[in-house]
Amino acid sequence: MTAKQNELNIIQPDDWHLHIRDSEIMKAVLPATTRWAARAIIMPNLVPPIVTGADAQAYANRIRACIPNDVEFMPLLTLYLTQETNPADVVQAYRDGIIKAVKLYPAGATTNSHNGVKDIKAVYPVLEAMSDAGIPLLIHGEVTDTDIDIFDREAVFIERVLDPLRAEYPELKIVMEHITTRQAAAYVLNSSSGLAASITPHHLVVNRNIMLSGGIRPHYYCLPVLKRESHRLALIDAATKGDKRFFLGTDSAPHLDHAKIDLCGCAGVFNAPHTIEILAQLFDNLDALHELEGFVSLNGADFYNLPYNQHKMMLKRVQTPLKMKKKLETNQGNITVFDPQMPVYWQICS
Ligand code: DOR
Ligand code: ZN
Repeated sequence: MTAKQNELNIIQPDDWHLHIRDSEIMKAVLPATTRWAARAIIMPNLVPPIVTGADAQAYANRIRACIPNDVEFMPLLTLYLTQETNPADVVQAYRDGIIKAVKLYPAGATTNSHNGVKDIKAVYPVLEAMSDAGIPLLIHGEVTDTDIDIFDREAVFIERVLDPLRAEYPELKIVMEHITTRQAAAYVLNSSSGLAASITPHHLVVNRNIMLSGGIRPHYYCLPVLKRESHRLALIDAATKGDKRFFLGTDSAPHLDHAKIDLCGCAGVFNAPHTIEILAQLFDNLDALHELEGFVSLNGADFYNLPYNQHKMMLKRVQTPLKMKKKLETNQGNITVFDPQMPVYWQICS
């Protein structure tokens, strides 16, 4: 048996799907990401959402104002697609370097999505302009029809919305965000170029039993909702086999505890604080440490046609499990940090 590897030196990672909110909460949560990520695709589902190039520019300025001078971090902005989105504004914002992508939320699919798209055909002119300009479309891939079971919403979205959309715009670059099912992983694996998927740490590490068995645990409630174990195993397979079409998007989505622990608690898992350590442990458990760099540092950059980060990150195996932060305290209240329910023996050392 070969000796276990005790160190891992990788190109610095990025996060290809991140919620940092705004104002005081943004100030509180950003350091959890800038500690390990050089860049992040920033989600636009603020209240009100980031819908124009001017909104994105102003949000980028607010984000930059929260980053200390000695921290290198590049926020990559996105626009929130609505039925009123102006194709020319999207293309201009992209050409001006203000945005990197556009996010499609089906109306009602998740947190702050009520301004999203009700009729996909209504945004086809925007998609056409994006396809021509090479602007990636990031999709929250769930139907919202009340007659579709919540655990089936991703698979049904692929059939009813995504497949016809790709047939209409075969050149459009698309990321299926935070995939959660074997159907989604298989759909990407069977596709030709231009389609990729981001995967979250929580969907790789826990399944729906953790959320619902032995008591209801609201801090594991997110959308798309956690699925059964067989789906988690399909995601693990997609993430750890070196396929360039799968990359890390944490979907770290902080909510104050009082908003999660409520009669109608909101969706979102705050996993940014220990993302990389948890993934190192998961890949290590699967004897796939050599695939970690591709998943967290290379594949996403390739998809977005961006250079790899210059800095390296060193991880080290430790003897005693990492003491993970349980809560982030903010001046608005506490935010509970994702607990992977497994010991983690990896630490970032530089
Ligand atoms: O769980 C989620 N939380 N899923 C999303 O799609 C949005 C996010 C949020 O903004 O809280
Ligand atoms: Zn998200």
